[in-house]
Amino acid sequence: MAAFADGFGSIIFNIRQIVQITDDPNCLYLRGAEMADVKVIESDADDLAVLVDLDGVISHIGCNAELKALAKASKVKESVDAEGGCLVPGLVDGHTHPVFAGDRVHEFAMKLAGASYMEVQQAGGGIHFTTKKTREATESELLESLEVVGVEMLKAGTTTLEAKSGYGLDTETEMKMLEVIEMANGIFPLDFSGTFCGAHAIPKDSDEWLQTELIVNEMIPRIVEEKAEGRLTCVENIDVFCEKGVFGIDSSKRIMEAGKSAGLRINFHADELHPLGGAEMGASIGARAMSHLEEISSEGIAAMAESKSVAVLLPTTAYMLRLKPPPAREMIDHGVIVALGSDFNPNAFCLSMPTVMHLACVQFRMSMPEALVASTLNAAYSIGRSKRIGAITVGRQADLLVLEAPKWEHLIYRFGCHAMVIKHVIKNGKVVFSKS
Ligand code: NIG
Ligand code: FE
Repeated sequence: MAAFADGFGSIIFNIRQIVQITDDPNCLYLRGAEMADVKVIESDADDLAVLVDLDGVISHIGCNAELKALAKASKVKESVDAEGGCLVPGLVDGHTHPVFAGDRVHEFAMKLAGASYMEVQQAGGGIHFTTKKTREATESELLESLEVVGVEMLKAGTTTLEAKSGYGLDTETEMKMLEVIEMANGIFPLDFSGTFCGAHAIPKDSDEWLQTELIVNEMIPRIVEEKAEGRLTCVENIDVFCEKGVFGIDSSKRIMEAGKSAGLRINFHADELHPLGGAEMGASIGARAMSHLEEISSEGIAAMAESKSVAVLLPTTAYMLRLKPPPAREMIDHGVIVALGSDFNPNAFCLSMPTVMHLACVQFRMSMPEALVASTLNAAYSIGRSKRIGAITVGRQADLLVLEAPKWEHLIYRFGCHAMVIKHVIKNGKVVFSKS
């Protein structure tokens, strides 16, 4: 219980439940039956408190009297009265495409009328439509629209997100998108784990082989160069849309191995629309995470469980495209590390992780504790940050949500109502949003 800095930055007190997720500072993920067993400290007298040091790191978890005395003695800067509510970790969104221009509301109407995702894309819409708009947009226009999205994410409880490029598909626009993510990471009270996704689609004037060559020989070396110069520091992952008619297994593997050699973590779209064996391939090349997985095979599940690759499941996309849900229960029961993401993008326009958790519970048959673990510690692990975030333990970053509810489960239970439940969002120990 030692303090990590001289003095304290903030105290949160009068808490009824502290949902730690785990009380082990070294626990990096939970899987199997552990996912249903979140660590909760409870006080019927609303007597719990958390103290945060001047560096924004949790230094004490205890009771009101003891921690208020410490806070008073060191003239703590900020006091947050939880008024008998609950404290949960800031949510981590494991998969987003938040940088883009324009919208695709017209395509939503087409899909409701029966067109499939790939039919829209093959007709020149989908990612191609958004790529055209994003190429035309300036950096500052993209940053402005990302700010609007970021504010809403924060209000919905997200404090860290994975964020992809992938609506440029040419070197110049891919770099522009990564630069926007980098700027946002420096300015917004949100942490971004940037992902290079130049292999999101094949541009109309190219083919799979040419785009693979461009990514491997031009785009990845450019990222390496930028990073060596101290730019694009938040770009940490490489992604490919590994799918029939987009990038097949061989090109996906080639691109991701090149990314891995360049120091990027493999985190890609696998087995969404067709059972290509993406999960098996990803496990074999040491992917940290794979997303979607609606069409994963039993062999893929076994390979992921064995390799500790995280399955980042995306309930909004499965819902909006009316896909068969991924076998979340089977994955959890076989010991796959499961995380969740909003997949926020112009196809799946939802950025609320509480809504995502609700959908995961109802449609993927996850329990509420499993959904919360998947949106905190396990999502943090999918981007390599679970030592620092994703749980409420001494030594972890104070990214916290104060809920206006007597039980934490209200965050998930109240479908589409995160604005009623999330009272304060705390980032690095500082309140960055409060409900009026
Ligand atoms: O994860 N499936 C590929 N990529 C995104 C969709 C991107 C888009 O349609 O703009 C996804 O769902
Ligand atoms: Fe995606």
